[in-house]
Amino acid sequence: MFATRRFPARVRAELERSFELDVHDSEWPPPREELLARAAGCDGLMTMLTDRIDDELLDAAGPQLRVVADFAVGFDNVDVPACTRRGVLVSNTPDVLTHTTAELTVALLLALVRRVAEGDRLVRRREDWIWAPNMMLGRGLASLTLGLVGFGRIGREVERLARAFGMEVVHTSRTGGIPLDELLATADVVSLHLPLSAETHHLIDARALALMKPTAVLVNTSRGPIVDEAALAQALATGRIAGAALDVFEREPEVTEELLELENVVLVPHLGSATLETREAMGMLCVEALRAVLLENRPPANALNPEVLR
Ligand code: DGY
Repeated sequence: MFATRRFPARVRAELERSFELDVHDSEWPPPREELLARAAGCDGLMTMLTDRIDDELLDAAGPQLRVVADFAVGFDNVDVPACTRRGVLVSNTPDVLTHTTAELTVALLLALVRRVAEGDRLVRRREDWIWAPNMMLGRGLASLTLGLVGFGRIGREVERLARAFGMEVVHTSRTGGIPLDELLATADVVSLHLPLSAETHHLIDARALALMKPTAVLVNTSRGPIVDEAALAQALATGRIAGAALDVFEREPEVTEELLELENVVLVPHLGSATLETREAMGMLCVEALRAVLLENRPPANALNPEVLR
């Protein structure tokens, strides 16, 4: 089998115990041509959110391919119907990163509204400063209403943490909550917890941003293309909304230039699930899925298309 990136040593040891393993042993993704070439002839692939799993890759891999274990909970990089058509089982890594991602959401929110990142930049610039009653005042979470757009596992965990800080919480979801426009118009913090799909692409566009309160902020730890980043930069630059904290970007890893200049913006490089424990747990879910399909011929618990093995 082929794994497309370096990953935690414990996971590698487990994979080597069960499979003949080829690893692209780098922090960077393999170039597309290399991915296609190294997938050829494999029974299993362990892939990352930066790898596109589509007909081209499945053709290159060949008809013996049986499983793609994607090292992420979001699987917008995988054409699941194409895999299903060829009888290739796809798995993702749910649950083990729920709390970790929710925690980063709260960290970003605090960094933004308590001006932690801005204060860090000020100190590093060696600017003159002295404690003062009016210096760099932020807002306490307990005075704010959090609007969760998407109320799955991660959204619910963010709610639990936010309530501990005394926040009011409202949400919108496919099955309930309040309508999106009402949430945008009333929340002090709009936080996105949706998968990327044709329906959610640019869900937060100029129109949506115009509905938000001028004092409100946006937090995104889901997928970058859910936000129209140019419209966001414009809304921030003109004071249409008060701030944004982003873990993900529309053309990741590129970041819209204008955002880099703004003090009311916190930017981090897709760190939602980035703790060693969580990355090991994500890797172990991939190992379990690969073993289930390749050694036991059964669908794993985290299969996205278990029907291919039934
Ligand atoms: C995911 O799993 O979808 C995250 O974006 C990366 O951990």
